[in-house]
Amino acid sequence: MVTVLKLGGSVITEKDAPETVDEAAIDRASDAIAAALSNEKGPTSLVLVHGGGSFGHHHAARHGVSTTGGTHDAAALTEIHRAMGELNTVVVDALQERGVAALPVRPLSVAARRNGLQLPLESVETMLSEEFVPVLHGDVVTDSGAGGTILSGDEIVVAVASGLGADRVGLCSTVPGVLDEDGDVVERITTYEQVASILGGSGATDVTGGMAGKVRRLLDLKAPAAIFDPPNLNRFLTGEPAGTTVDGR
Ligand code: IPE
Repeated sequence: MVTVLKLGGSVITEKDAPETVDEAAIDRASDAIAAALSNEKGPTSLVLVHGGGSFGHHHAARHGVSTTGGTHDAAALTEIHRAMGELNTVVVDALQERGVAALPVRPLSVAARRNGLQLPLESVETMLSEEFVPVLHGDVVTDSGAGGTILSGDEIVVAVASGLGADRVGLCSTVPGVLDEDGDVVERITTYEQVASILGGSGATDVTGGMAGKVRRLLDLKAPAAIFDPPNLNRFLTGEPAGTTVDGR
């Protein structure tokens, strides 16, 4: 049972203060992950991905780099990558302190945008078979014809989940799920049309990780996915419904 879980950048960092971790939030998430891994209802194999929050977006915006707008400025790309590495170290350390066999995986070194996103998974697969917990992160990525662009954690989640044939996918963010017009969590989404009026019509695409983009990407997966907030992390990890379930199968 492979589970892929993303911790959103806004969950683990103070979004408005550059390069500031939310230590309490990282501690709580790491506690929940460590507990689930020793719970018989928890995942047997877990891949973690985390977003950038105030470590990624701040530098990316300063250098004018986005998922589609690239740069050939190596120093700028390195600065974004380094900041993400620092956040990754904090997350990996917090997990290891709780006995989780977390290992850092840095996408820039292996991924590329060339005829779509290429993300070789041999290292992640071997980590899982050796009972490690790979921890990937949103990063910069070399992009054929554009220099380097931003690779979002959401894109990584989809690539890893499809590549490994994951059984469950979870996006833990600061919202409790997809909200309807009344602000209530939509329990289950099986087609985009069902939520187009809330998230934007069929023409609405967002490449930056907004809710419409998340739902579209998750609907394409061959596994059920959940969008939920940190209080529901434990429920998700122990196989219970959490937030909004997105299942386009
Ligand atoms: C962003 O990743 C990575 C960088 C800006 C380098 P995400 O787009 O997944 O981050 P969050 O979760 O929205 O903060």
